[in-house]
Amino acid sequence: MTNDSPHIYAKKGLTITCDPGVYYACTCGKSNDQPFCDGSHEGSSFLPKKFKVTEPSQLYMCLCKHSKKMPFCDGTHSQLLDS
Ligand code: FES
Repeated sequence: MTNDSPHIYAKKGLTITCDPGVYYACTCGKSNDQPFCDGSHEGSSFLPKKFKVTEPSQLYMCLCKHSKKMPFCDGTHSQLLDS
């Protein structure tokens, strides 16, 4: 059984520092290694979002998993209702 609505891990963004490389962001909201995928999506309809960092960077990552700019925060978390 699948659920198309991601779990809201937290209603905030998270600033991280990344070295150059390829990363996989969690889109399901169930990873215990936020904002990265830890495989907890297995059995759901969600897949991790691959993104590439080309130089050492500070990134503002989405934790609510409803951003339109995944894996990055776009402020959508401030519009989500409590459930
Ligand atoms: S654990 Fe959430 S997408 Fe993999």
